[in-house]
Amino acid sequence: MDFDDVINGRRSIRGFKKKPVPRDLVEEVIALANRAPSSMNTQPWHLHVLTGEPLERVRKGNTERMLAGHPVTREIEDHGKYEGVHRDRQVEIAIQLFEAMGIERHDAERRQDWVLRGFRQFDAPVSIVVCYDRDLEPGGTIAHFDLGAVTFGLVLAAWSRGLGCVINGQGIMQSPVVREVAKIPEDQVILTCVALGWPDDSFPANAVVSRRRSAEQVARFVGWEEPAETA
Ligand SMILES: Cc1cc2nc3c(=O)[nH]c(=O)nc-3n(C[C@H](O)[C@H](O)[C@H](O)COP(=O)(O)O)c2cc1C
Repeated sequence: MDFDDVINGRRSIRGFKKKPVPRDLVEEVIALANRAPSSMNTQPWHLHVLTGEPLERVRKGNTERMLAGHPVTREIEDHGKYEGVHRDRQVEIAIQLFEAMGIERHDAERRQDWVLRGFRQFDAPVSIVVCYDRDLEPGGTIAHFDLGAVTFGLVLAAWSRGLGCVINGQGIMQSPVVREVAKIPEDQVILTCVALGWPDDSFPANAVVSRRRSAEQVARFVGWEEPAETA
C-alpha cells in the first residue's frame, strides 16, 4: 500500500469481524512499529499482546469496575477534562460517531452502551497493552513521546496489512485489572492499549473520517520567503 494511502486512509476502527488475527501477522506489524525513533535510541516500550481468555477477563474486569463506580485508575497522570478548542474537537468527533451510529443526543441507553463498548475494547480480537520502563519516571514526558511514535507506527503498519485499530485509553481505565491479568512486570508503567482486528465494514462508525485543520493552520513558517504570487 502506498504511504499516502496508509496515512490518509487510516481511521480509528471500532467494529471488528469475529475472525482471529494470525499471530505471525501481529508479529510482522510489531516488527514494523518497532522501527520507531526514540530519544537517544532508548526504545523504552514493551508491548503485551492479549487475545482469547485473558483479553475476555480484562474486558469483564474493566467493565465491572467501571459500572460499579470504581474511580478511573490509570498509572499515568490524567489531563482532566478538555476545554476550549480541545473540547470542541472532542465534541465534533463524538457527534460524527453518534450520527453514524444513529445514536440520538438524548438516548442515554445507547450512549451508555457505546461507552461500555469502549471499556470492552470494542470487542476486538486482540489488545496490545503499551508500557514503558518505570525507571524513566518521574518526568516520563520523553518516554511518552517515544511510545506515541511506536503506537502510531503500530496502527499504520496494521492498516497497511488490512487490519484496523483504535488506540483505546478506555481499555486501561482500570489498569490494576490489566496489570493482574496480563502479568505486567512491576518495572513497567501501563500507558495505553490498542484494540486490533479485521475491520467490519458494515459497522457505521468505521466509515467516520475525523476532521483536521489545514496544514496552513497548524504550521508557521519562520525565515521563509513569502510564496511568489502566481499571475
Ligand atoms: C491517546 C489516545 C487515546 C484514545 N482513546 C480512545 C478511547 O478510549 N476510545 C475511543 O473510541 N477512541 C480513542 N482514541 C481514538 C481517538 O478518538 C481518535 O484517534 C480521534 O478521534 C481521531 O480519529 P481517527 O483516529 O479516526 O483519525 C484515542 C486516541 C488516542 C491517541
